[in-house]
Amino acid sequence: MKVLILGANGMLGPWVVPALENRHELLLTDIVPPKSPGRHPFLKVDVGDLPAVVAAAQGMDCILNLSVLRWDRKLAFDVSTRGNYNMAVAAVTHGIRRIINTGPHYQLAGPTYEDFDFGLTPDMPPQPGTRLYALTKALGQEILRVFAERHDLYVQTLLFCNFYDPTTMARPEGGFGSPGKDLWPFSVSWQDAGEAVRLAVEAELARLPSNYETFDIFTDLPHGRYVNSKARTVLGWQPRHFLESIWTRPYPR
Ligand SMILES: NC(=O)c1ccc[n+]([C@@H]2O[C@H](COP(=O)([O-])OP(=O)(O)OC[C@H]3O[C@@H](n4cnc5c(N)ncnc54)[C@H](O)[C@@H]3O)[C@@H](O)[C@H]2O)c1
Repeated sequence: MKVLILGANGMLGPWVVPALENRHELLLTDIVPPKSPGRHPFLKVDVGDLPAVVAAAQGMDCILNLSVLRWDRKLAFDVSTRGNYNMAVAAVTHGIRRIINTGPHYQLAGPTYEDFDFGLTPDMPPQPGTRLYALTKALGQEILRVFAERHDLYVQTLLFCNFYDPTTMARPEGGFGSPGKDLWPFSVSWQDAGEAVRLAVEAELARLPSNYETFDIFTDLPHGRYVNSKARTVLGWQPRHFLESIWTRPYPR
């Protein structure tokens, strides 16, 4: 499959590319160049620029959106909301039926849900709250929902929260996970996240429950606050890293 990746050069992109690269033809795009030249073509594309996104999508079978901008009012809307509109228009323009979107868990399960402590699923009505990052991503997702209702499109959205590299337990924002301490109950390894994206890219469209599906991507964790069973049953995703060195506590003496 020919896969256009928007926002490919952030934190998640370099974990998604290895999951896809031996099976698919990739076109990497971003507003910043890759840190080191890789084996895939790179195009500078601003997701807020409709003609640029439409042009990059020509000839593709799938568009995968990893782009995000979290901190600036205007740019956050341009990237996280309008970027999805542009992606959907590009898909419709070229007859691309497969869109993979990504975002944080709280674009759906915002503060009103986070106070619950059990069984939160990706099929709850979204309550992102008012935080800029969550809100702009939630609006972007809503745009994709409307496009999926009206066009021959399959939209899969993968939601994440915390990522760890299980070999080092390093956190993306710096620092490391602390053994024996709780970790946020929506955490996953980068590698398992990349694999979830691959499974969404390769999912048989006709076998998806509908043409608009959302998946919570986090590893098996004992508290059961969130539920990852949909990613397992629908995508066949199976986390390989359980991050237990962080959440298991030493036996009290
Ligand atoms: N990293 C995390 O902790 C985390 C947690 C939850 C969800 N997510 C989600 O995962 C996905 C990937 O996030 P990430 O961690 O790689 O983010 P990131 O901030 O590291 O990377 C985002 C990429 O988007 C690019 N970008 C910004 N503005 C752009 C524009 N106008 N046009 C094109 N590209 C632009 C950036 O240059 C960057 O390379 C996002 O949907 C994000 O919401 C990430």
